[in-house]
Amino acid sequence: MSPIRPLIAGNWKMHGLESALDEARLLAATVEARSPSARVAIFPPATLLSRLAHALEGLPIEIGGQDCRPEPSGAFTGDVSPEMLVDAGASLVILGHSERRAYHHESDVLVAAKVAGALRAGLEPVVCVGESLEERRAGLAVATVERQVRACLADVSGGQGVVVAYEPVWAIGSGLTPSVSEIEAVHGAIRGALQTVLGAAGGAVPILYGGSVKGANAAEILSAEHVDGALVGGASLKASDFIAIIQAA
Ligand code: 13P
Repeated sequence: MSPIRPLIAGNWKMHGLESALDEARLLAATVEARSPSARVAIFPPATLLSRLAHALEGLPIEIGGQDCRPEPSGAFTGDVSPEMLVDAGASLVILGHSERRAYHHESDVLVAAKVAGALRAGLEPVVCVGESLEERRAGLAVATVERQVRACLADVSGGQGVVVAYEPVWAIGSGLTPSVSEIEAVHGAIRGALQTVLGAAGGAVPILYGGSVKGANAAEILSAEHVDGALVGGASLKASDFIAIIQAA
């Protein structure tokens, strides 16, 4: 059993209008009643951040942004800074998600700059890594995530307040997941890379698994070695689905 407290994180992606606040309130009430062993966090779209922070005030759910720029402010139309996320009530931020890498051409160098900006503002970055299907088929899954971890955390000193999420690109939204032994192999390699970059502090960084996690497979995935929680997309949108995953941690 890992000494790291599990983190179950729900990435709402570009889903959620005002009515989603009711679902979040339902989730928060259930989490409070059941006091699960895991930390629970929700990452709503930026438009809902401050309303969600307000709606969940005092309840045991953390809130995060889905992306930010590295700079604290500036002429960057349409973007959000780490300090703005904090101002809106966030304590975490997802960085380097594969959808940002694919649709906004984000590089590891940019993700590393965003990580530095998040830490400057006092946010806990959840740094996403993961191989494509082509990379997995070519036997390059481990090498790919090791390279991403080293590059994205190159400027971090000490591992406090950093989370890594392993999300194989081919498992996101597809209903496919790697086998437990495949997850353990990659998570073990990430742990090694973290210790190379951060020294002993790398042993305390939570490593989440993400990609088609649902109630039916959560217990098996969360009990795998070096898995310290889950980053959940589709199954985080409904409180009853998400609770099933939280309860499995
Ligand atoms: P799904 O859980 O919908 O596969 O999404 C995973 C994900 O991308 C979370 O960041």
